[in-house]
Amino acid sequence: MQVISPSMYQDSLSIRDEHLKSLRTTTQMDLRVVPSDVVHPMIPTSAQYITQVEPPLDQGQREDIDKIEEMMSMVKRHSQKFPKHHGSSATHRDVVLVTGTTGSVGTLILAALVVAYDVRRIFSVNRKAADGSSLLDRHEISLKRQGLDPSIASSPKVTLLEATVSDHQFGLPKSTYEMLREETTHIIHSAWLVNFNLPLQAFELQLKGLRNLIDFALDSPHSTPPRLLFVCSLIMLLNINHLEPVKEGPVEPYVALGSGYKESKWVSERLLEIVASETPLRPIIVRLGQVSGGPNGYWNHREWLPSLIRSSIYLKCFPTGPEPVIWLPAATAAKVITEMRNSPDLHLHLVHPRSVPWSTISKELAAAFNLPLVPYPEWFSALEQSALANANSADIEFRRNNPAAKMLGAFRGMLKGLERNTNRNKEFTGLPLVSLENAMKASPTLRDENLLPLGPVDVEQWLRYWRTTVLLQSKL
Ligand SMILES: NC(=O)c1ccc[n+]([C@@H]2O[C@H](COP(=O)([O-])OP(=O)(O)OC[C@H]3O[C@@H](n4cnc5c(N)ncnc54)[C@H](OP(=O)(O)O)[C@@H]3O)[C@@H](O)[C@H]2O)c1
Repeated sequence: MQVISPSMYQDSLSIRDEHLKSLRTTTQMDLRVVPSDVVHPMIPTSAQYITQVEPPLDQGQREDIDKIEEMMSMVKRHSQKFPKHHGSSATHRDVVLVTGTTGSVGTLILAALVVAYDVRRIFSVNRKAADGSSLLDRHEISLKRQGLDPSIASSPKVTLLEATVSDHQFGLPKSTYEMLREETTHIIHSAWLVNFNLPLQAFELQLKGLRNLIDFALDSPHSTPPRLLFVCSLIMLLNINHLEPVKEGPVEPYVALGSGYKESKWVSERLLEIVASETPLRPIIVRLGQVSGGPNGYWNHREWLPSLIRSSIYLKCFPTGPEPVIWLPAATAAKVITEMRNSPDLHLHLVHPRSVPWSTISKELAAAFNLPLVPYPEWFSALEQSALANANSADIEFRRNNPAAKMLGAFRGMLKGLERNTNRNKEFTGLPLVSLENAMKASPTLRDENLLPLGPVDVEQWLRYWRTTVLLQSKL
């Protein structure tokens, strides 16, 4: 039996209240009629807290409860004592502080800001490189890799700053920090630790960085604090199985369980929801879905789709299916993010507004390699058998030719998602379909009738890029 202290009990009650509050905002259920000791199967009642045996919880449920508590306490830790906002000065044209511009999406956000007529200045904030290479070099490499002009990084609008947002005043000299504080009208926070294998604790510094950006905004001398746009991820919603497309609003913590990455994005969302309710800061949470190739088709060849392609060549068949895909080309996603920086809404989804069936894409990819199309379950079974047959193999050639075998868990997850897709409310990767109401209001690019659905031209571009990489260059 676990002995529980009064403060732990108090915490459990506030977790319960917090969870009820979040359920109220996401469901039509009147939760005021829910008895005080009945909350949700995954949230402990006080009795469960004291005895831990009544009613019995299985190991998985207990782990989920522990994880949700960890997420809640991370929210609590980072949402104490927000500074008061006292600003009064007027602002003119937009000055955007953007983080993560050495990354694939961030590079394209930077490029979109440089050509935005209503953006006067851009502070591009990135951590120091481990190998000591300069920020200018890193940006030029990243821009070139996406087929863009590397001189974008040295545009007169752009100031590249090496800084650590999780450090006090971003670790910058006082005068630089003050200049940022005085100038910034918008923040776009794209930098994040993109790693699905790390536990939630590994994201502590990411949360500290987000909190520092919140404090920075609240400390602004402007009459309204800078808008703070947080690039979140739609993958956080993977566990949702609603009948209707998921609305742009808060979600319960349990939907994000499963990886530290998703959990940390949920903690960030909750922190920003609290900020929005307790301070004059108006954050914007953009849940970004799967991003497809960049302007020249650039799509990291180690990701799941290129791996699926290389493995399909090895397995001599290609998976297809009727489910929709809602992936957005990376440059379009980046442009839309910049447009969303003035949205009046707190939550926005970002996916392609015009879905196409996965079969449209799979047909093109299979044809490029003369492969027969098979239903996804059949393809997965071939992948699983090949992985089992080579389970103990350290064969480098096998791993290079069949990279999807290393991602068996992710591909099995997709299979389960498709099997559960009885309501036809999921896209091919298992992500739920989502509402875009707020997103469409905020973005002329998303509303544009000329925004083309994905098709053969996109597939050709991705393939052209992958043919320049080891993915399709090494012996097939
Ligand atoms: N790509 C997608 O399909 C997708 C989908 C949904 C959401 N997102 C979100 O979009 C954002 C950008 O993603 P991306 O695809 O551009 O990722 P990426 O290519 O991995 O870039 C990540 C950026 O964050 C920086 N970063 C990584 N770890 C950091 C750390 N510990 N401290 C400080 N900076 C760090 C990286 O800097 P270095 O160059 O120094 O490593 C880089 O600038 C992320 O917030 C991600 O969660 C992406």
